[in-house]
Formats: sequence, C-alpha cells, structure tokens
Amino acid sequence: MSKSPVTVLGLGAMGTALATAFVTGGLPTTVWNRTPGKAEPLVALGATAADGLPSAVTASELVVVCLLDHDSVHETLDPVADGLSGRTLVNLTNGTPAQAREMAGWAAGRGIAYVDGGIMAIPPGIGTEQAFLLYSGSRSAFDAFAPALELLGAPRFVGEDPGLAALLDIALLSGMYGMFAGAFHALALANTEQFPAAEFGPLLAGWITAMASGIPHYAHQIETGDYATGVVSNIGMQAAAFANLLETAEAQGLSPELLAPLGSLMSRRVADGHGREDVSGVVELLKRA
Ligand SMILES: NC(=O)c1ccc[n+]([C@@H]2O[C@H](COP(=O)([O-])OP(=O)(O)OC[C@H]3O[C@@H](n4cnc5c(N)ncnc54)[C@H](OP(=O)(O)O)[C@@H]3O)[C@@H](O)[C@H]2O)c1
Repeated sequence: MSKSPVTVLGLGAMGTALATAFVTGGLPTTVWNRTPGKAEPLVALGATAADGLPSAVTASELVVVCLLDHDSVHETLDPVADGLSGRTLVNLTNGTPAQAREMAGWAAGRGIAYVDGGIMAIPPGIGTEQAFLLYSGSRSAFDAFAPALELLGAPRFVGEDPGLAALLDIALLSGMYGMFAGAFHALALANTEQFPAAEFGPLLAGWITAMASGIPHYAHQIETGDYATGVVSNIGMQAAAFANLLETAEAQGLSPELLAPLGSLMSRRVADGHGREDVSGVVELLKRA
C-alpha cells in the first residue's frame, strides 16, 4: 500500500480514532485540533502535531476533517481554502445531504477534490472489522486514496452525488434511533415489574435481531409500492394488537409516546382500506405531496 501522508483536522473522540488508525497503519500522519493539547497521545504513537492550521492542510495531499458539525467545518476551512487547493478533502463530519452538496460546491469553486463520508462506527470500532464508512462525491479522488481510507473500516462508495453518503448515513441512523425507541420502551416496560434486566436485555436483543431479518422484504415492498404480495402478518391484525401495547404502557404507568406515532399511522392505514396489506405500507402516509 502506498504510504502517502494524511492530515487529520479535529481530534475529538472520532478524529483521534481516525488519526490513530492512520498512524498505526503506517501512514505519515499530521494532526491538528482547535484546542491545543489533544495531539500528544498521537505524537507518542508517531504522528506529527502541526504548528498551525495552514501548515496542517499543506502537509498532505489527503486532508480528512472530522469536526462537530457543518458550521465548524466552514469556520475551520474557509480561512485555509487556498492551502487546500489542489488537494483532496474527505469530510467525515456528520451532516445533511444539503450540507454535503454545499460543501462539494465550496470545494469545487476552490480547486479542491471533495469526498463526503459517513462513519458507521463508534470510535473504538474504527479500524476493526465492525466499522464501515460510506463515501460519495469525486470517484477519482476516492479511488486514489481508497487504500488509506481502508485503514478506517470497510469503505463503501455509494455514488458521485456528494449528498448520497450523508443521506444513507442519516437513513441508517434513523433506523438505529427507531430501534432504540422501541428497545427503551420495552426495557422500561419490563422494569415496571422489576423483571431482571440481565434476563430481559438478551431476550430483547435476540428478538429484535430476529425481526430485523424482515427488513430486506420491506425494502422491496417500499421500492415497488406493492404491499399486498407475500403478506404473512397483515396490518389489520397488527393494528388490533398495537392497541394493547399502548393500553399496557398506560396501565403500567408509562407514557406510550415513543410508540404512539406508529400506532396512529397503522390505524389510519387500516381505515384507508389497506387492512389486508403489510405494515410497511405506512410509509405511504409519510410522503409529502
Ligand atoms: N463519536 C461517535 O460515536 C461518532 C460516530 C460517527 C460519527 N461521528 C461524527 O464525528 C464528528 C466528530 O465527533 P466526535 O465524537 O469526535 O465529537 P467530539 O469528541 O465532541 O469532538 C468534536 C471536535 O470538533 C471540534 N470542534 C467543535 N467546534 C469547532 C469549531 N467551531 N472549530 C473547530 N473545531 C471545532 C472540537 O475541537 P475542540 O477540541 O477544540 O473543542 C473537537 O475536535 C461528528 O460530526 C460526529 O457526529 C461521531
């Protein structure tokens, strides 16, 4: 693998994990952080602490930025745009598709090759088999630096529209938070009767994992708009049972607010005459005109 240098801007929990993966992977790594002092552990591993932001961005052809949010990226990069010109910027800061596209336009106007990314891992997972990262934007820039990016986790280039990685990142996080919403409610419900967490936690994790196997089937239904083929558990039956979820929460002294919106959509879908179809048809009610 080529040992071309890399610069990492931002040494929070994630930036530090990214820089660690580059250094331990053998890449000459320059690091910078707004607040001084965070580079020391990385310097001990072999990284170079830049003596300022301008020298950080000119130290490497590949500049990886991982800051808090979109505003902090502009605040940091706007003053050093000239130094970035002719280099590749990989932005691993969480953001919206619109922010990614805006950043790509900003980079294009300054002669900077741009790749946007979404990190699907937590910091301890970086560089392990569990980690994968989504990328979109300049394909040629991605290809040129793919060997370096592989050190962070499995790279997945999803398209040249720079907003696509952010869209899929946000979609995956949306699925995760929806899962957490249900899980937190379930854990709280079991806890109302002091059922042992050590027993219920694994039971719930196994159940959610088993139910997740239906997601590809739902994905196909949502892609085709056909919610009536291959239905095993129709939404009419599920909506009837869902009422028991809400009633039980109230009876156990729990607010059902994490679950109630899905119940409302299911009831509306049944009322609209789709009771024999699959539950995934609720997405039709989410679409704005
Ligand atoms: N941690 C995770 O589990 C995880 C997972 C996936 C994606 N991400 C994404 O990775 C990015 C970084 O997360 P993190 O966990 O490293 O967060 P963090 O530990 O809170 O670190 C935030 C970083 O942003 C810098 N920063 C904030 N505002 C700034 C500004 N105005 N100008 C310059 N630098 C600024 C901070 O610098 P100072 O040290 O000077 O404050 C620090 O380096 C976020 O977009 C996050 O959504 C995180």
